[in-house]
Amino acid sequence: MTKPRLFSGMQPSANSLHIGNYIGALLQWRELQTTHDAIFCVVDLHAITVPQDPAALRAQTRRTAAQYIAAGIDPARSTLFVQSHVAAHPQLAWVLNTITGFGEASRMTQFKDKTAKQGTEAASVGLFTYPVLQAADVLLYDAVVVPVGEDQRQHIELTRDLAQRFNSRFGTTFVVPEVSILKETAKIYDLQNPASKMSKSGETPAGIIWLLDEPAVTAKKIRSAVTDTGREVVYDPEGKPGVSNLLTILSVVTGASLDALAAQYDGRGYGDLKKDVADAVVAEFEPIRTRALELLDDPAELDRVLAGNADRAAEIADATLARVYDRVGF
Ligand code: ADP
Ligand code: NA
Repeated sequence: MTKPRLFSGMQPSANSLHIGNYIGALLQWRELQTTHDAIFCVVDLHAITVPQDPAALRAQTRRTAAQYIAAGIDPARSTLFVQSHVAAHPQLAWVLNTITGFGEASRMTQFKDKTAKQGTEAASVGLFTYPVLQAADVLLYDAVVVPVGEDQRQHIELTRDLAQRFNSRFGTTFVVPEVSILKETAKIYDLQNPASKMSKSGETPAGIIWLLDEPAVTAKKIRSAVTDTGREVVYDPEGKPGVSNLLTILSVVTGASLDALAAQYDGRGYGDLKKDVADAVVAEFEPIRTRALELLDDPAELDRVLAGNADRAAEIADATLARVYDRVGF
């Protein structure tokens, strides 16, 4: 039986994964690649919709791929490739741009959010049509499953609308994907500011645990986490957000339930908890970090793996694009 095709993209960034991404997304992807024919794409074309430094982009693209491979995305089983290596992405995006309404694109709330501060005058047209490129990413692969966070729901709805519109105008060409929102997982909060979600764009560097942090740095960040008044270790997200965040991390990383942990720390202090969280996170990330650094140490080999995967992706994508070009009269 063929497995359902899954597509997911990730932005290239120097520190691609913090412990929130790892728990909220990567662990699910790692599972999904056993039940799905999974395609993972480092979306460097999307990255240039805001100004980029070319050398930094190139390095970030490799770092992102290396981190995902090290964290368990298997490039022999799944297809993990770089978007700009497969020319069909911008080619299909152009065709889809021509069937996207200007008003329809203007209703994308992410564009509104991203331009809220600086205004639309300074934004690139690429940023405006970002969701159309995203639709091309998915439709090229006949993906049925696109696991995304809730914030991406509107873009997947647009993808469905464009697929259906194209199909009804030119004849059935695209598979219409399902909207599949990643299952709710534990939310991880900033260690220095446990009222806000840990985020790549967070403003307290010491509050973010990166997969590639040195073990000593990880341990220090956890030891210095903001805790709450009082001294009892209890899971109480309202009253004790800092301690609760640490318990959540420990629970996910060790597999122990929050109840079991609460019992285990009965009568013990914050210091014990922090030490155990630090040990558990370091143990979880150390082999991943080591593997990622190995991969980055041999960029020629990493590039070879990514090129092979891009060839596999292009085989599927080019066939879809050929269908589309034929349908539109090229
Ligand atoms: P960031 O907020 O760091 O930019 P993204 O918005 O790119 O992260 O999210 C990528 C994935 O990681 C999403 O599936 C999201 O649900 C998950 N994720 C991001 N931050 C957290 C967090 N703090 N806790 C749990 N999951 C998270
Ligand atoms: Na975000």
